[in-house]
Amino acid sequence: MSKTVFLIGYPLKHSVSSVFQQAAFDHHRLDVCYQNRETAGAELEAAVQGLRQPSVLGCNVTIPHKEKIVAFLDELDGPAAGIGAVNSIVNRGGRLVGFNTDAGGFLRALREAGFDCRGASAVLLGAGGAARAVGFALVREGAGRLIVANRTPRRAEDLAAWLRGQSGHRAEVVGGDWEGLRSGEALRDCHLLVNCTSLGMKHGATEGEGALDAHAIPGGVLVCDLVYNPEETPLLRQARKAGAAVLGGLPMLVYQGAASFELWTGREAPVDIMFRKAREALASGA
Ligand SMILES: NC(=O)c1ccc[n+]([C@@H]2O[C@H](COP(=O)([O-])OP(=O)(O)OC[C@H]3O[C@@H](n4cnc5c(N)ncnc54)[C@H](OP(=O)(O)O)[C@@H]3O)[C@@H](O)[C@H]2O)c1
Repeated sequence: MSKTVFLIGYPLKHSVSSVFQQAAFDHHRLDVCYQNRETAGAELEAAVQGLRQPSVLGCNVTIPHKEKIVAFLDELDGPAAGIGAVNSIVNRGGRLVGFNTDAGGFLRALREAGFDCRGASAVLLGAGGAARAVGFALVREGAGRLIVANRTPRRAEDLAAWLRGQSGHRAEVVGGDWEGLRSGEALRDCHLLVNCTSLGMKHGATEGEGALDAHAIPGGVLVCDLVYNPEETPLLRQARKAGAAVLGGLPMLVYQGAASFELWTGREAPVDIMFRKAREALASGA
């Protein structure tokens, strides 16, 4: 029987997951179809129930459902339980198990970029599901200091308090002021800046906008943008202008997807093919 894996989120226009996941299934000659399922909030519970059918291997979950979907699952794997957000679900004979492969995907991309988290000082922009997974990964890897800045300051304070707890109060985590970042003050002694907002995302309301200008970015910092479409975001352009090192969102996307693929199939993910197909899709205007 042919099987299906879904991508659940809303909107899904910017996503290239279906292209590189389908290429991975085809590479292994698996009779599996990866399908986008745009799902509004009111349809989420019914969509999750549909995943229990024998023909469904599981799904990926993306904005804005990563946290809300947890309530509809039967079990969470370790990091997903810690983070409280799920981006991948496996259907085990009708039981739905939630995983978070975003945190591991982010760390794998960061390691490949040669960044050592231990004792590092980082600034996170954003306080949504992605910021939660990235912050969790950084404090668990031994980051020493984190500033969380968000458009809605209360959410930054809440996330900072939660991250302090996750680090066993070993890391200094503070809610920061977005305006303070624009002046460059908060970034002065920082090693890593991660944009976990959707600012600059293609097809979104802020397409073409970057979080910071070059003058606010120190040359010695690694600037990482989780937005992967476009691959060269406005923030990364400003970071290059400032002489900073840059890391786009595509490696994290492919690595979280590769980990999901391995959970659904038990096969090794063909990451080179997945990268190539994702880049082709972005280049052709996805
Ligand atoms: N590369 C990858 O593998 C990967 C993985 C996960 C996520 N992502 C990307 O990361 C981004 C965030 O995802 P998410 O799941 O965390 O979404 P989310 O939970 O909806 O959070 C969105 C965040 O962006 C902020 N934001 C939205 N519009 C803004 C604006 N105009 N100005 C300033 N801040 C704004 C929000 O601030 P408020 O709190 O003030 O609303 C919030 O902090 C998305 O673009 C997503 O595609 C990439």
